[in-house]
Amino acid sequence: MPVVMPIFGTRPEAIKMAPIVAALEQSELFDCVVTVTGQHREMLDQVNQLFGIVPDHDLDILQPGQSLSAIMTRTIDGLDTLFKAGKPDAVIVQGDTTTSTAGAIAAFYHGIPVIHVEAGLRSGNLHSPFPEEANRKITSQIASLHLAPTSTSRANLLAEGINADDVVVTGNTVIDALLATVDKNIPFTDPQLEELAASGRKILLVTTHRRENQGDAMRGMGRALARIADAEPDLVIVLPAHKNPVVREAVLPALEGKTNVIVTEPLAYGEFTRMLSLAHIVLTDSGGVQEEAPSLGKPVLVMRENTERPEAVTAGTVKLIGTGEEKIVAEVHRLLHDRDHFASMANAVNPYGDGRAAARTLAAIAQLLGTGTRIDEFGTACV
Ligand code: UD1
Ligand code: UDP
Repeated sequence: MPVVMPIFGTRPEAIKMAPIVAALEQSELFDCVVTVTGQHREMLDQVNQLFGIVPDHDLDILQPGQSLSAIMTRTIDGLDTLFKAGKPDAVIVQGDTTTSTAGAIAAFYHGIPVIHVEAGLRSGNLHSPFPEEANRKITSQIASLHLAPTSTSRANLLAEGINADDVVVTGNTVIDALLATVDKNIPFTDPQLEELAASGRKILLVTTHRRENQGDAMRGMGRALARIADAEPDLVIVLPAHKNPVVREAVLPALEGKTNVIVTEPLAYGEFTRMLSLAHIVLTDSGGVQEEAPSLGKPVLVMRENTERPEAVTAGTVKLIGTGEEKIVAEVHRLLHDRDHFASMANAVNPYGDGRAAARTLAAIAQLLGTGTRIDEFGTACV
């Protein structure tokens, strides 16, 4: 039986790989050997625990304040040792983290086919998001199979000369994960959040972590949130803080003593999706949250200058607002007080998937490895 190795290391990769790992483990066509790099530690383990994933190999590379080069070299070194001991028939990498690109490079050097999940996202600016735009372009150059979430991402790949036969539009596996989780009504570990859920108060859910926003932009976000908290006493701001101390040091000081701001540790995925479904407005610079919130009909303000996820912007549910303090305050104010504007953004749309991305992924892998055939693509009618 062909051995397929999913390789992942951060929270979003784990969430988006979990439906594929579950499908591989149920399948009788493949042996699944899970390798984690440990680029994230607590945030990775939290997801694996929820989805019952027990890694076969753990490179345990995390160092506090790690550099991009350290993530890259420690991952390639660890995988090199692993592949010398035994090669899988294919590896699966997800998205655009440095774990993902390092995994692709290490496999390519060993002649192992690379399957790229969430292929073809492009912002068009090599430096934003940094280093993700470069990471995903590099992976596209060396992958054997490109699993594009949408037809837009497929078009990006074809425009760069990737062979159309090697691209399959699957939808994004994050929607599989979301649909499997969101209705479970998982209780909040933090009693403040359970109390908030029962209160029915309006919630502004905030996440931030992007490398290019660290420093001045994040300090501005902190000031903007403090001003919103003061101006809107009935609103509650919920901020599950990323584990990165650089993020916390920039954003949190301005929020100290604000009684309508709840700062939490990263929420376990089930708790986070429940909080998303309770939220009135979402303010974020996350990639995954831009994909999930539109499915739940939540208006999303994205604190970035560009996005590689234009589909929900086109649908009107996501708005790019940049990172300026005044703009953040003004856009949240408008959504809170202009009913027509809120209604125009609060549409449930599903441009990123239908919950069958993992099934399409497995079928495409089966065809690559000669054990099966592909099924209908996302966005095309079933025949
Ligand atoms: C990484 C990815 C980014 C992705 C993000 C998701 C790269 C270069 N960046 O960014 O694409 O959007 O994950 O969250 O691959 N830390 C912990 N424990 C954890 C996680 C992080 O202590 O569980 C701290 C460490 O001090 C670490 C720092 O956070 O040095 C930053 O982590 P790192 O993986 O380097 O970058 P992220 O900003 O998380
Ligand atoms: N998420 C979570 N707990 C949190 C915050 C986010 O489980 O406290 C989930 C969220 O639902 C999404 C993913 O983490 O699926 C996004 O991760 P992140 O923003 O760290 O990375 P990005 O998507 O920007 O690469």
